[in-house]
Amino acid sequence: MRWLKQIWRSKVVNYMCPKTLNIWWNFGSCLGLLLISQLITGILLSIHYNPNTEEAMGSVYYIMRDVQGGWFVRNCHVSGANFMFICVYLHIGRGLYYGSYLMKSVWFSGMAILILLMAIAFLGYVLPWGSMSYWGAVVITSMLSIVPVVGERLKVWVWGGYVVTNVTLKRFFVLHFVLPFALAGLVMVHVYLLHMGGGSSNPLGVASQAISFHPYYTSKDLVGFTVVYGAMLQFVLLDPDFFMEHLNYKDPDPMKTPKDICPEWYFLFFYAVLRSVPKKTLGILVMFGSILVWALCPYLHLGKYRGLQFYPACQLAFWVMVSDVWLLTGLGGIHADGIVPWVSAVCSAVYFAYFLVCPLLMWLHDKGSKPRIELLFYKYQHGG
Ligand code: HEM
Repeated sequence: MRWLKQIWRSKVVNYMCPKTLNIWWNFGSCLGLLLISQLITGILLSIHYNPNTEEAMGSVYYIMRDVQGGWFVRNCHVSGANFMFICVYLHIGRGLYYGSYLMKSVWFSGMAILILLMAIAFLGYVLPWGSMSYWGAVVITSMLSIVPVVGERLKVWVWGGYVVTNVTLKRFFVLHFVLPFALAGLVMVHVYLLHMGGGSSNPLGVASQAISFHPYYTSKDLVGFTVVYGAMLQFVLLDPDFFMEHLNYKDPDPMKTPKDICPEWYFLFFYAVLRSVPKKTLGILVMFGSILVWALCPYLHLGKYRGLQFYPACQLAFWVMVSDVWLLTGLGGIHADGIVPWVSAVCSAVYFAYFLVCPLLMWLHDKGSKPRIELLFYKYQHGG
């Protein structure tokens, strides 16, 4: 227990943070709390869940109706997954706006976390074995077939046969159980890298006076937890079906693909990017590219200053990009006919362009920058 106390003292009580952290620095710790809550509710659910194509949906109904408090645990797990995505997108948005990506190791570990989080969410969605679960599993895993040479074999290997069956469901359940622990390990590495790299940056992007994490940020995080968890409980208690897809209450029919097949809201952006390219293979590559493009951010940062708050044109570009992501999310949820593929293609191009235009705007701004900005920095640094 002494080592635990030591970690608590050095990493929390005596951990020094900039004085100027704003609300956008709350989401990392909210994500940590949500991850713990997902692990606990997930373990409780797996006690009663049955990974068998004949029994899976029945076992979910059993949890909801017959297990003491089962409905609460399951609703917390489903809403918790959705809130993790809300928080993770806000966390990434903060990173893009305030130039947090300049902490390369933390940024890259974050990207790995997001990819793993998406995989876990996908695997979890398959488990109730409703119509959407089944078709989601078929469509997503079929993407493996684009891998050159070994693609088809890889797909058969993942499925455990030539079609999606009981074997597939069993291995998806095992992976959905195990991978969150790997995610927890990756999050520890993420936070360790943050601490090793000198700790959190701050909204100003310059050295700020430091204060201890405890009690200043523990109390601030407590407010964040209360708001995020409070909002989540609204859904758990008052509208538990809000995040659920009605088609997933139907048994899957392997002979009939549902007309309105579409992924969860947090994947709609990627789905719209995928559909904006007419060729399947290219579409899949572009879709993965929409995350991998973030890896360029630390290298394309051409500005003198860290965040976008000192670059008005970049701020505009940022909000255009955010609106564009919203639009693509909407487009991902509707039928891809008429002008939808065209609009999606334009929006995808706008999204990718942001990562080139923003550094260019920074560079142009700095070329004609006014000393006023330096003066502002000086005033902040000296508490003026
Ligand atoms: C389960 C998911 C995640 C957890 C639990 C998590 C946790 C944290 C925590 C606790 C912090 C410190 C507090 C804060 O700055 O908010 C942090 C900082 C950071 N995270 Fe994450 N994170 C996650 C996902 C991600 C993702 C997906 C990315 C980016 C792709 C990312 C990038 C960063 C960066 C760059 C920082 C440093 C921010 C700064 O000080 O400027 N994180 N993370």
